[in-house]
Amino acid sequence: MEKIEIIKGADTKKYVESIANLRMANFRDYPYSYEGDMALEKKYLSMYPNSKESLFVVAKDGDKVIGVITGMPLHESDDDCTGIYLEKNIPTIGIYYVGEIIVLDKYRDHGLGHKMWKEFEKQVQGLKHFKQIVIRELEASEKDPKKPKNYIPIDNFLKDIGFVRHPELVSYSHWKEIGAAKETKHALVNWLKPLKAA
Ligand SMILES: CC(C)(COP(=O)(O)OP(=O)(O)OC[C@H]1O[C@@H](n2cnc3c(N)ncnc32)[C@H](O)[C@@H]1OP(=O)(O)O)[C@@H](O)C(=O)NCCC(=O)NCCS
Repeated sequence: MEKIEIIKGADTKKYVESIANLRMANFRDYPYSYEGDMALEKKYLSMYPNSKESLFVVAKDGDKVIGVITGMPLHESDDDCTGIYLEKNIPTIGIYYVGEIIVLDKYRDHGLGHKMWKEFEKQVQGLKHFKQIVIRELEASEKDPKKPKNYIPIDNFLKDIGFVRHPELVSYSHWKEIGAAKETKHALVNWLKPLKAA
């Protein structure tokens, strides 16, 4: 039976390495094909312990981390995430950013993702001053020949937990694909979920 832990602010530091491993395992898959680099992961994930209002919802099977939702105030995240908002003069204050929602594949499809999300949203709601939550999706192209037959986009899950796709809000992140010589730029569509007023 899995258990769920809520980790906040500076305490997120103790999970940085296991979250890095989970991210690298998940993002090797289609459509990301991310090669993974522990040094870069640690650098990227250090923004969470540096934020007072960051949050990890961590699912564990015994001591093994099997799922995570990471988040922090959007205005404290990196330029890749905030850029499109600044460009369009949309205030980032009041928006809470979700870095990733991941459940290891062998633990999927029996409710863990929804259970983790419920906890996550409750915690963000408890912070009082957030009006929206944002997550970004790397979309697979309809006709991509590399797309596996059994590929399931995250769209249904996002719609089910109340997110709305915003194709006018596209941001970019850079990463090295498996076997590539250097990093390339990847477009990510923002999805927003309004929060109920506290
Ligand atoms: C999306 C995800 C977190 C859902 O976790 P889960 O524990 O399987 O979710 P639940 O059992 O609570 O809900 C099942 C729902 O998740 C979605 N789902 C199931 N398998 C999925 C998969 N492999 N990929 C995407 N979504 C999936 C479906 O919408 C499903 O609902 P349905 O049965 O009505 O079709 C999990 O599938 C996952 O980690 N996918 C890869 C995530 C990823 O790439 N995240 C990066 C974006 S930040």
